[in-house]
Amino acid sequence: MKLSKWLSGCIFVFLILLNSSFSIFAIDSEYCLAVDGLSQITSLKNYYPEKLDRYLDYKQLNPTLSDADIVLHVNIGLDKSFYSDVEEILKPDSFLVVCNKYNILPKGYAPEGYGKYDYQDLSLRKEAQNSFNLMQKDARNSGINIYLVSGYRGYFAQKEIYEHYKKQDPNNVDNFSSRPGSSEHQTGLAADINTVYSKDHFENTAEFRWLIENAYKYGFILRYPPGKEHITGYRFEPWHWRYVGDDVAMMVWEDDLTLEEFFAGLPVDY
Ligand code: DAL
Ligand code: ZN
Repeated sequence: MKLSKWLSGCIFVFLILLNSSFSIFAIDSEYCLAVDGLSQITSLKNYYPEKLDRYLDYKQLNPTLSDADIVLHVNIGLDKSFYSDVEEILKPDSFLVVCNKYNILPKGYAPEGYGKYDYQDLSLRKEAQNSFNLMQKDARNSGINIYLVSGYRGYFAQKEIYEHYKKQDPNNVDNFSSRPGSSEHQTGLAADINTVYSKDHFENTAEFRWLIENAYKYGFILRYPPGKEHITGYRFEPWHWRYVGDDVAMMVWEDDLTLEEFFAGLPVDY
């Protein structure tokens, strides 16, 4: 009697141990699966270990995206909704500044040569302006007429523009107008370009086609291209060109990128 009790006790303990080792095994295999799915992600050159949880969450929500796109999108910030988690830009004077719905200019920022309360004018920061002038001259020599319709816009000018559009189109305004502090025009590096003569939409003009082929040689990129609205957060703006300098402009142009994709795709140790 005692022996059978002892035996059934042993069997009971054995069964418990067996069961727990199964669950350990189950956890292990789950872990292996996760790690295996991760091996692609962790080996990407633009993988940031501190963003691992965000990559995994985003991957779960977007199972059809490639691992490269998962990492690229999270590096840009696209796992968070626009304007939900903004950071202040550390180097607002850099030609390579990324000013967007995740990175906003410091309060009261104005680039050198512009005052904090300057409103707006048809000028760009010196280097961008010189490059634009050269581009305009070379274009004219090829029978192409381009001119600036908007250059520098101070914080208050952008605030007024944004609020004006918000009244007109409250549900759509963020797709085409930047909230004050997040417009590239406040950096003095964004040029809205149009042509003097055409009544066509700018994207259908010879001027736009010329810019597509040549602007990068002068350090300008098309900042809000068609088909990249989900990345930039803005609808296609054929007139909005951004000065980034010759080197980056060429790389962005060659690979058909947005500025966001260019930076989010750089190797971590770049
Ligand atoms: N229209 C561009 C996005 C701006 O408001 O800066
Ligand atoms: Zn613009």
